[in-house]
Amino acid sequence: MINVPKGTKDMLPADSHKWQAVEAAAKKITALYNVKQIRTPVFESADLFLRSIGDSTDIVNKEMYIFEDKGGRKMALRPEGTAGVVRSVIENNLCETLPQKLFYIESLYRYEQPQAGRYREHHQFGAEFYGSPLPEFEIELLSMASDFLREIGFSDLRLRINSIGCEKCRAEFNKALREFLKSVSDDICDDCKRRADVNPLRTLDCKNPSCQKIYSKAPKISDYLCDDCKSHHAAVIKGLSDLGIEYYEDESLVRGLDYYTRTVFELCDGDLAVLGGGRYDNLCQQLGGKPTPCVGFGCGIERLIAAAETRGIEFNRNIPTVYVAAQCDGARSECVRLVKALRDAGISAESDLMGKSLKAQFKYADRQAFAFVATVGESELQSGKVPVKRMSDGHTQELALNDFVNGIKNLIS
Ligand code: HAM
Repeated sequence: MINVPKGTKDMLPADSHKWQAVEAAAKKITALYNVKQIRTPVFESADLFLRSIGDSTDIVNKEMYIFEDKGGRKMALRPEGTAGVVRSVIENNLCETLPQKLFYIESLYRYEQPQAGRYREHHQFGAEFYGSPLPEFEIELLSMASDFLREIGFSDLRLRINSIGCEKCRAEFNKALREFLKSVSDDICDDCKRRADVNPLRTLDCKNPSCQKIYSKAPKISDYLCDDCKSHHAAVIKGLSDLGIEYYEDESLVRGLDYYTRTVFELCDGDLAVLGGGRYDNLCQQLGGKPTPCVGFGCGIERLIAAAETRGIEFNRNIPTVYVAAQCDGARSECVRLVKALRDAGISAESDLMGKSLKAQFKYADRQAFAFVATVGESELQSGKVPVKRMSDGHTQELALNDFVNGIKNLIS
């Protein structure tokens, strides 16, 4: 017996309506914001991720699925969506008209220690906007993220936001932070000791409570932001307030990918981020494109569904409409004709494909939650009338065979 790989999950039919509801919400809201879909390959040259996410990050260092293809090329399964989209935007000249607003729904691969909300394969609804250095860009993106979460049914996920400055002010801040980390190096965890030199900013995000206590005395990024970064951040915050989007500022928020500049944000359910992103103004140029300011987010679909379920948020189910049951073999071809007519009219319908008895067909229709069951037998074929049972209360009505589709339309309207 071969099992599903560790850290991955099958999406089973009983859960498919949840995934479909999330994707429908993503497609509805992106259409409202005039955001177009993009799909990129599940694997890319490993270099793309080394050069974008950063070679000091956990994702690149510990978690990438890297393999050599038969042509000897070093490839990687995408651990995140942004880099592949930037690659495609540059390669296909998608920034000739700006802004360019894109979204994706895709699977991602990180070799993590599997635990609740942390998988080796996960899925994201992500959005990437290209072209504007203005705070309006963050506000548009966060407004879309907030509408998406409201469409699913969330009302309590609060936005955590911070500015990590530009290269200029961050360099000053990193210098001060490195000095501080040196002074407390005996008391911080091994992970933080390692990060202190290569990526000091990431220490601030450490989940270890004793490190967090120490970092309450660390230099604050807000004291190092240059005037431009400060006014940009203030404008983002004001824009969110103007739209009634609740947020709280959190200087410990730094994110686990290296490409961010200025704004970073997350929406969390307890300790787990459900949605995260920020501005990344240097990445296009870093990957060989024209300098192009960008903002984006990724929303983890597994975590989103789990967070919705703990809140009792219901996902719409697609309830099949009409099951046409055959009472005898002589009625089967009429059942197929009726089902075809219903489907042509846009009404979901099914008839028996298994040679089941009438009783077993009713049992199947009930289990599948069909709204109506029509029964066709010899006498119905002769009289030209079929009984249609409403499954919710058993109410039965006769419909004319020669006007069956209209009869059903009247029943469901
Ligand atoms: P990220 O924070 O690494 O950002 O991932 C975004 C979201 O994906 C997380 O908030 C979380 O919900 C989900 N996620 C990440 N890793 C896992 C995992 N192992 N298992 C389950 N869910 C997970 C990015 O990926 C950036 N590309 C976001 C972005 C887009 N920034 C700018 N544009």
